Amino acid sequence: MTELSGHRVVVTGGAGFIGCALSQRMAATAAEWVVIDSLHPQVHNPQVRPAALHEAARLVEGDVTDPAVWDAVLADTTPTVVIHLAAETGTAQSLDEATRHAHVNVVGTTVMLDAFGRHGVVPERFLLSSSRAVYGEGAWQREDGSVFYPGQRSHAQFEAGQWDFAGARPLPSSAPVTVPKPTSVYGATKLAQENILSAWVNARDTVLTVLRLQNVYGPGQSLINSYTGIVSLFSQLAERGESIPIYEDGAITRDFVYIDDVADAFVAALAREGEAGTPTYDVGSGVGTTILQLAEAVAAYHSAPAPHITGKYRDGDVRHAECRIDDTLAALDWAPRWSVDAGVAGLQEWIAAQR
Ligand SMILES: NC(=O)c1ccc[n+]([C@@H]2O[C@H](COP(=O)([O-])OP(=O)(O)OC[C@H]3O[C@@H](n4cnc5c(N)ncnc54)[C@H](O)[C@@H]3O)[C@@H](O)[C@H]2O)c1
Repeated sequence: MTELSGHRVVVTGGAGFIGCALSQRMAATAAEWVVIDSLHPQVHNPQVRPAALHEAARLVEGDVTDPAVWDAVLADTTPTVVIHLAAETGTAQSLDEATRHAHVNVVGTTVMLDAFGRHGVVPERFLLSSSRAVYGEGAWQREDGSVFYPGQRSHAQFEAGQWDFAGARPLPSSAPVTVPKPTSVYGATKLAQENILSAWVNARDTVLTVLRLQNVYGPGQSLINSYTGIVSLFSQLAERGESIPIYEDGAITRDFVYIDDVADAFVAALAREGEAGTPTYDVGSGVGTTILQLAEAVAAYHSAPAPHITGKYRDGDVRHAECRIDDTLAALDWAPRWSVDAGVAGLQEWIAAQR
């Protein structure tokens, strides 16, 4: 499937950040590109069709948890490819709004599959936008070389300022070796999506490709969603000339991956022929960046005051999140091209252009 020509594609959540970027790459070559999106008010303000959604896309405004929405879509089209993006995405928020996250992410997925069952539809392939959140804190290695899964940092650890797990270092996550152990409700729902879709496609003899995305940022990300998007949050503070507040000691690490690199990974995953079962790929830059380094890069761009460490923390926050991408590089015709400095600049230019 080098191009999606001839394919009828249904993209859930396809009016969001990643969905719009994908539409720009692929909607024009597809026979149909149908987007089901509720235009969630936390993401879309105003709740109208985003300009970044390619004109070839047909937008069905509706909720993936509503069977009637699916019935209406499947009355008009029989998808050959499904890209499942619709989700509640607030990692910290999911601790307080677990039902909302589970309803959309888990029940939304099963409602979709039941609709395919009712209509006798078996798409040729599914692509799920999963998350590094499925790994939780991931695997760590002690000084003697032994590997363990520390689980979640406790409230008492946070209070004592014990940010790391003493005597150990984090290992970058890698789908073939790292056992998923989510430490957020959001992460648990993303893993549930993987497991539910995997069970269905295996029983129906079709294919699911899972992309576990690290922290995606760049032009097109929601600037109003205060529950996600640390790069856009920092950017807006620095642009106003404020010093960016940094949690813990600034050494939390994340893998920031630019939206163009993520869209390229989706294209490469869909281009791969002859896959079976549930191939699962990590999609990141392959480089860990501390939150302090990120904030310094953003502040430098705007000539804003230096960031300041607050020592505050958020219960449930993962300390280190990085991935190895060597397996993805070997399997897909893909490689990330954007450094954090170039990506930060690209995002700032886009934010400025929104004014
Ligand atoms: N952006 C990241 O850093 C990142 C990282 C890992 C995984 N992901 C995953 O990628 C996917 C897309 O994320 P994004 O960054 O584009 O987020 P986004 O919030 O920009 O897009 C999600 C879209 O889904 C829509 N949506 C939400 N609930 C819906 C519902 N009930 N019915 C229909 N549509 C609904 C929203 O209106 C929005 O347009 C999500 O599944 C997310 O879990 C994103």
